[in-house]
Amino acid sequence: MSYIAMVLLEGSPLPVRTTELVSGFRQSAPYVNAHRGKTFVVMLGGEAISQSGFRSIINDVALLNSLGIKVVLVYGARPQINAALQQAGLEPTYHNRVRVTDDDSFKLIKQVAGALQLDITARLSMSLSNTPMQGAQINVVSGNFVIAQPLGVDEGIDYHHSGRVRRIDAAGIRRQLDNNGIVLMGPIAASVTGESFNLTAEDIATQVAVKLKADKMIGFSEIGGIIGENGDIIAELMPNAAEKIMLQLEQQPDACPGTQAFLHAAITACRAGVPRCHLVSYDEDGALLQELFSRDGIGTQIVTESAEKLRQATISDIGGILDLIRPLEQQGLLVRRSREQLEMEISQFTLIERDGLVIGCAALYPFPDDNVGEFACLAVHPDYRDADRGSILLKAVIQQARQHKYSKLFALTTRSIHWFLEQGFELLTVDDLPAQKKQLYNYQRRSKILAITL
Ligand SMILES: CC(C)(COP(=O)(O)OP(=O)(O)OC[C@H]1O[C@@H](n2cnc3c(N)ncnc32)[C@H](O)[C@@H]1OP(=O)(O)O)[C@@H](O)C(=O)NCCC(=O)NCCS
Repeated sequence: MSYIAMVLLEGSPLPVRTTELVSGFRQSAPYVNAHRGKTFVVMLGGEAISQSGFRSIINDVALLNSLGIKVVLVYGARPQINAALQQAGLEPTYHNRVRVTDDDSFKLIKQVAGALQLDITARLSMSLSNTPMQGAQINVVSGNFVIAQPLGVDEGIDYHHSGRVRRIDAAGIRRQLDNNGIVLMGPIAASVTGESFNLTAEDIATQVAVKLKADKMIGFSEIGGIIGENGDIIAELMPNAAEKIMLQLEQQPDACPGTQAFLHAAITACRAGVPRCHLVSYDEDGALLQELFSRDGIGTQIVTESAEKLRQATISDIGGILDLIRPLEQQGLLVRRSREQLEMEISQFTLIERDGLVIGCAALYPFPDDNVGEFACLAVHPDYRDADRGSILLKAVIQQARQHKYSKLFALTTRSIHWFLEQGFELLTVDDLPAQKKQLYNYQRRSKILAITL
């Protein structure tokens, strides 16, 4: 019997664990909703496969599929191939950091890549009871979705069977994803001449992500992030900043190859329109889930634009705004608004969105007869306070009020008086309110009235 069923039938034998379970479910629910139906390309380098955490990663990839995320899994085999070559007494050969694949090496590479394909497929097919995969029944699909071409000859060096992506059958992959299958791709692909070529997993993952217009590309490294100057993992980087770090890493002989490969792929993918690429640790159990289903993640994201957007609200933001303001209403910090009222006023709301979630909002209510506006329903999620988001929302609303040529912006608050004073507001009395607002003033709530001249 599952733990949840046990708790439901027998009450809660371990109240603390139950609470953790329930709150964990609740906290991740907005992310489950945000990611459903999205396309993720997961790039699993050979380094990640050789670690003990590999099984958990595969289970977590299967879980993404169960949650309605469309997953393409691209695996690499660099260390496995090198080990096999060494065992066979063959020296791995590189030119300009790219493997040269002669006939003998290629025979071995095909064996290694084929064996990995079977191992990963077997793992994804597992549905034993008492495992996270119980009842999953996942279809794993592999095929000739990538068409390769030879790298050819460079500076007199023939790359033989080393190739690069020529074409991606995006429509073919889409069909499999729409059928709820996980598309599994390895580092070998066929060409139109009927030969096979050895490609890098990074090249395949990048091109697939771009051609599929994927929402995310995810890679793994030992550390699971890019380390900044202060020794902490950098949460977010734009492609240009990431490129600088990549160039620095190229000069360091001991730099982690997985990180470099990811950065190269992520920068290319982001510049070609993939909005977000995440780097997480293969050594940390559940890092992939932490990154995708918690507020701030734990790895590094390479993003085309900042994770946060300030924009006008639309009707589809109602749920997100309600999630943000309901707890504040319950604490008496904001006046209660019904869903219907919010629907009518939605065009007056400005919000800050982060990774599909509303983390801040404010409204501008017009009082055209008095030529003033009300700055209302200001809220910033508790996890994101003290980073100027409140004042960013205020500035945006002031700008809108100026466009309406209002002379003043007023606000009512019970407990954020000092915040408003620090933003340049001054205290007023009820008599200073527009007539329409004065009639509705709640003398029991006794909010303070503040205003800023525009
Ligand atoms: C008020 C609120 C929007 C501020 O959001 P924020 O993003 O933290 O604001 P900023 O980062 O721009 O400002 C932070 C500063 O204001 C201070 N501050 C935050 N909330 C405050 C409050 N309620 N009263 C007084 N000062 C406050 C912080 O201490 C910080 O000061 P510091 O810079 O000296 O450290 C946020 O606290 C909130 O959502 N509160 C609950 C809802 C509410 O009261 N809304 C206003 C009524 S309409």
